[in-house]
Amino acid sequence: METLHDIAKEVHDCRKCPLFKDATHGVPGDGNEKADVFFIGEGPGAEEDKQGKPFVGAAGKFLNEMLESVAWKREDVFIGNIVKHRPPNNRDPEPEEIIACLPYLERQLAVIKPTLIVTLGRHAMHQFLPADFRISQEHGKVFRRHGRLYVPLYHPAAALYHGGLRQTLIEDFQKLPKILKKAKSIGHEENK
Ligand code: URA
Repeated sequence: METLHDIAKEVHDCRKCPLFKDATHGVPGDGNEKADVFFIGEGPGAEEDKQGKPFVGAAGKFLNEMLESVAWKREDVFIGNIVKHRPPNNRDPEPEEIIACLPYLERQLAVIKPTLIVTLGRHAMHQFLPADFRISQEHGKVFRRHGRLYVPLYHPAAALYHGGLRQTLIEDFQKLPKILKKAKSIGHEENK
């Protein structure tokens, strides 16, 4: 069985799409191999590209605050992205770039087998949940799809730029521990 380390090594050497050309570092994602919760952002920004780590810029600081507010540690969860190299000028990733990169995310999910997947922003949401979902309608709700459990949230960067979303995101985040607890207890029953 492969490890997160194996996948990270491949990401660092990845040439499957052109994004590596303008990037400084690949950003495979970071966290616990046994995480119950897997957060998925869109792609590395400037600071993430510099450090090779996910969510270490302004959005990451806000994510850290929200994790602390529910007494979760970064080391206990896993934080990844749809694409692993920074799109130039933080543009949206192209569909071909996403298609090239998604197998890494699927392999990380297969290793970790999280109880809960939290998508951050509409791009991450649309990789896993229906195309007609609107983040303004579906944020903070729980969806079961193909045997996986998802909660789509607003992206922390969007909440930083649109102050009105900040409180909504904070409130949605507060629901996560209870959702996880319930999911784990149901999973436990199902496995008996
Ligand atoms: N935004 C993302 O979507 N991912 C990061 O890693 C950082 C900012």
